[in-house]
Amino acid sequence: MEPINVLEYEALAQARMVASHWDYYAGGSDDEVTLRANRAAFERIRLRPRVLVDVSQIELATTVLGVPVQMPILVAPTALHGLAHDEGECATARAAGAAGTLMTVSTSATRHLEDIAQAATGPLWFQLYIWTYRQAEELVRRAEAAGYRAIVLTVDLPKMGNREKDRRNGLHTLHSTIMRTAYETEEDPAPIVATLTWDVLDWLRARTALPVMVKGILTAEDAALAIERGAAGVVVSNHGGRQLDTAISAIEALPEVVAAVAGRGEVYLDGGIRRGTDVLKALALGARAVLVGRPILWGLAARGEEGVRHVLALFHDELELAMGLAGCPTLASVAPALVRLP
Ligand code: FNR
Repeated sequence: MEPINVLEYEALAQARMVASHWDYYAGGSDDEVTLRANRAAFERIRLRPRVLVDVSQIELATTVLGVPVQMPILVAPTALHGLAHDEGECATARAAGAAGTLMTVSTSATRHLEDIAQAATGPLWFQLYIWTYRQAEELVRRAEAAGYRAIVLTVDLPKMGNREKDRRNGLHTLHSTIMRTAYETEEDPAPIVATLTWDVLDWLRARTALPVMVKGILTAEDAALAIERGAAGVVVSNHGGRQLDTAISAIEALPEVVAAVAGRGEVYLDGGIRRGTDVLKALALGARAVLVGRPILWGLAARGEEGVRHVLALFHDELELAMGLAGCPTLASVAPALVRLP
């Protein structure tokens, strides 16, 4: 049966995937408290819809770091699309372009960043893990040369979170194996990433003309530091509940980050976005756009490029409907008064 919402893709994807690979996609850290909180927090926020507004035309197009997109819903960086589908990130990139949006390509992609850029029909950002300085510099240079539009520096993985499903399945070394592949090194890369401090932003900005986003911010304090160190924006994220368990949900952290950034940069959010109303709530609380992680992988595993395109279309249509029902014909009209926080 044709899925009619994003969550229906979850079951389809699970049925098609090797169980241990499914666990890698689905799992969080420790007791998965934060993983569940990302969803639960959205459900606790209620909307305050306005009526008798002309909503015959809904305008969803916006720009993200100056790049035009047809909707404020982007593809989050997730590792190993090759576990979901043979065409891996190349299929995802084509689908994102077809849906009029932007894809963030992970350092841990299963395809070379140049091949993904070649396949892409829309704009790309490159997500960077700094595993060794020399190799990171090389990755940034390659991403620039391949036409990526921004570097998204992920800062919430100084060490791997305790993902017990992966440990049970014997997959806990998967990530470092992939990183060694991406970095074409035999060394254990973990020690370097754990030494990074805010100085790394100066290091990175000195090596690229591209805007730098900092992904994995959950506090006003760190949001302010990122902006002071020259970040063009931040992504409020707890890595989909895969790093520090019991960390605050992304949507609960958003208001203080938006206040701290105070218009000096762009603020994005990921974690638990499954419905158009989730997107609407994040926009109301000040996100410029949201990023979607697991649902993209579900679409890819279930139906390849077509599945990702459909997942993005479902998000688009649900957001459009939610804006209409809430009395918001434009993104500019989506204001904090639209939500009631618990
Ligand atoms: C991720 N995430 C992630 N983030 C990142 O910066 N680099 C990466 O390589 C990955 N890899 C990755 C793999 C898998 C399987 C998942 C589920 C997540 C985190 C991702 O960008 C994002 O923060 C979350 O996925 C958002 O939460 P939802 O949308 O999955 O709930």
